[in-house]
Order: sequence, then structure tokens, then C-alpha cells
Amino acid sequence: MDQKRDNFSSRFGVLVAVAGSAVGLGNVWRFPYLVGENGGGAFILVYLLCMIICVPIMISEFIIGRKGRANAVGSMKRLAPRSGWNIIGIISVLSSVLILSFYSVVGGWTIEYIIESVKGSYLNLNAAELTSNFAILTAKPFRPAILSLLFLLVTAIIVSAGIKDGIEKYSKILMPILFVLIVVLAIKSVTLNNASEGLRFLFKPDFKSLGGKGVLAAMGQAFFSLSLGMGCIITYGSYVKDDENITKMSFMSSIADLLFALIAAIAVIPAVFSFGISPDEGPSLVFITLPQVFAQMPFGGFFGFAFFFILLIAALTSSISLLEVFVAWMSEEMKITRKKAVLYSTLILSVLVILCSLSQGVLKDFLIFGKSFFDLFDYTTSDILLPIGGLLIVIFTGYKLKKDIIVSELTNNGTLKMNNTLIDAIIFIMKYLAPLAIIIIFISSWL
Ligand code: TRP
Repeated sequence: MDQKRDNFSSRFGVLVAVAGSAVGLGNVWRFPYLVGENGGGAFILVYLLCMIICVPIMISEFIIGRKGRANAVGSMKRLAPRSGWNIIGIISVLSSVLILSFYSVVGGWTIEYIIESVKGSYLNLNAAELTSNFAILTAKPFRPAILSLLFLLVTAIIVSAGIKDGIEKYSKILMPILFVLIVVLAIKSVTLNNASEGLRFLFKPDFKSLGGKGVLAAMGQAFFSLSLGMGCIITYGSYVKDDENITKMSFMSSIADLLFALIAAIAVIPAVFSFGISPDEGPSLVFITLPQVFAQMPFGGFFGFAFFFILLIAALTSSISLLEVFVAWMSEEMKITRKKAVLYSTLILSVLVILCSLSQGVLKDFLIFGKSFFDLFDYTTSDILLPIGGLLIVIFTGYKLKKDIIVSELTNNGTLKMNNTLIDAIIFIMKYLAPLAIIIIFISSWL
């Protein structure tokens, strides 16, 4: 069975695929609006601190995946047969379904804004008009649902092509282009009138507006943005070759992800202040702010088109990693072909995607625990399932796997020179710092 499994073909390919999974709507859509909602600089500072525990969590996932050489559930079964640790696999599959359901909806909005850019329809609207325009577009029953399903369908098509021909090929071309465009936008944003107020908001921490919930949101966002806590990196790790440096890869993709998030926030927040939009607008923030920036630029329609188009691509390199968790599990554990697994999982997801899309309009008042489907799926994954998954993953790696295994995975069985202090630091974070930090943040968010 091992021989038949697909692998990433090159070192650059894995890095791009992992970074591609990390960089997505989480950086461009979710991070800026959470920064806006949770008081700016203080949120960013806590987010930066969370990175310290996240890199070793990513390394743990790589170790589990490369050692287990199977999907999230299968890898856990191999490393800890007939034990409760399988829960990590189960959380993974469940989270992948829930995240992909609302992720596809935002993917659908992105497609809508590509169309709007081509039509140039937002170029002469003011802030209030843009806000209501977003609400009108997303509350419709059919159109956003169909666009979300389209997003899911494209994801499914890429995933069904397999690792080398699908995921890797697309990520390689598209990731670098994205970076350049976001930098251009950030430069434009900081040169707008009154942008300095936004920059102050971003870089001057105000801890009063953060609170325990904000800290949990920052940690949840760190997990979300780095694709951690739900077996995504376990699954990708299972395709990584034995001579790959997983420590370096984890550092590099985390840094790339962080850069994207910070630059996206610099592209969005100063513009928010410049146009007098409220920073705590929520999930619509990017979609109502950036069109105004485009409107101020020469060839704004074209820039808008380019931006939303690359955002769509970034979203796709992430959504394929989410679907891959579900598909790898289904095809390997239920022993069905990859194509069939893609078909069945897409059908199941379609129902949930439609529910999430309708919860922005027709089903707005259908609340579970006081939340719409969209918010419920978003909240349960980022603020609960991912941190719990991450906690279990580091505890498993730190306490259940033998130290020899960790060291041998980090050093590729001794062939890779690695500083002992670095190894000890990584293991220390896995065993003590990360579990403690996650538990404390959880508890303080209830107080
Ligand atoms: N990290 C991606 C983003 O920022 C989303 C994503 C992909 C994800 N795979 C994941 C989130 C796994 C959580 C878990 O857009």
C-alpha cells in the first residue's frame, strides 16, 4: 500500500503546498477582521506569541504524518494502535468538513467580487452603499449558494487529480504572484489620507479591548491560519519524503504565513480608518473596504479584479488541503478509489455549504446556541476543535512518542545536522509550553 501512495515530487513543491495551505482566506479575510474586532495591536501581539507554540505543533503534525504514512485517522492508528488517540483523527475529519463548509461560502463571495470587479459596479459607491451592497449580495438565496458550490467543485476537481498533478502543480505557479499583489495593495493603503490612524491602531497595543475571548480568538486564528490542529499537516506530512527537513519547512511556511497576514492587515486596516468604516464590521470587512481602495486607484477595476482573483487562488490552495484530509481518510479507511471519495465527500459538503450560505440570508434567524450555521461552524472549529486538536497532537508527540522517534524525525535519522539546543527547545515547547499555554488560554476565556 505504501508504494502506491503519491508523494510530493520536489522540496520546493512541498514547501509551496504547505505554505499554500496556510496562506488563504484566513490571512486576507479573517485576520484583518479579527484584528479590527479585537482592538488591533494587542491582538497582533498575542498572535505573534501564539506563533511560538504553533511552529512545534506543526512539526508534531509532520512527525505524525511522515511516521504514520497515512491519512490523519490511519496515521494515528499506526502510531498508537487500538487506543483513544484516534480521537485526533476523528477531530481532524470533523473539522475539515465544518471548516470547508463556511470556507466555500467565503470562496463564493470572492468569486462574486471578481464578477463585480469586471462589471466595475463598486467603483462609484460610498462606504455605506458598499456595506449594504455586500449584505444584499450575500443574503440572496440562490446566487451566493451557487457560487459557493462552484468554489467547492473547483476544489474537488483539483483534489481528484492527486498530489503531484493537482495540488503541487497549481500551488507552485500561483503563490508568488499573490505576494506581489498584496504588497502593492498595502503600499496604496498606507498612502491614503488618514492612514496613520490605522497604522497606530495596528501597532499600538491596547490591551483593554482584548480580554480572554480576544486572546482565545488570537490563538484560534493562529491555528486556523497555519492549518493546524486538524490533521491537515499530518495528511500532507504523509506525502513528504524521508530526506526532507521538516523543521525548516515548518519555520519557513509559518514565516510566509505571518508575512501574508501582516501585509493583508496593512492593506485593509489603514484603509478602514481612511474611509471611516468601523473596524469591527466583522466578516464583511475586506469586501467593503478594499473596493474603496480600488476605486481610488488608477485602473481600480483591473486591480480589484486581480486582487479578488488571486484571493480566490489563495483560497483554493487552502481549500484543497482541507478537502484532502476528508478524501484521504475516506479513500484509505473505507478502501474506495480517490475519485469516488472526492465524489461522496463533495456531495456531503454541498449540503453543509448551502446551509452556511443560506444562513447569511433566508436562514439568518435559524440559530443554534445563538449562532447561525456559518458562525457556529467557524466558532466551533477555530475556538474549540482546532486548539483541542493541537493540544492532543503535542501531548501525543511529546509524551506518547519516544524521544528517539522525535529526534530521528527531526534529524532524518541522524543524517541531518541539527543544533541540540534547537531540538531541546522544540521538545520543551511540545511537552510543556504549548499544552500549558493552550489550557491557560482556554480557561481564561471562560472567566
Ligand atoms: N489556513 C488556511 C487559511 O488561512 C485555511 C485552512 C486550510 C485551514 N487548511 C486548514 C484551517 C486546516 C484550519 C485547519 O485560509
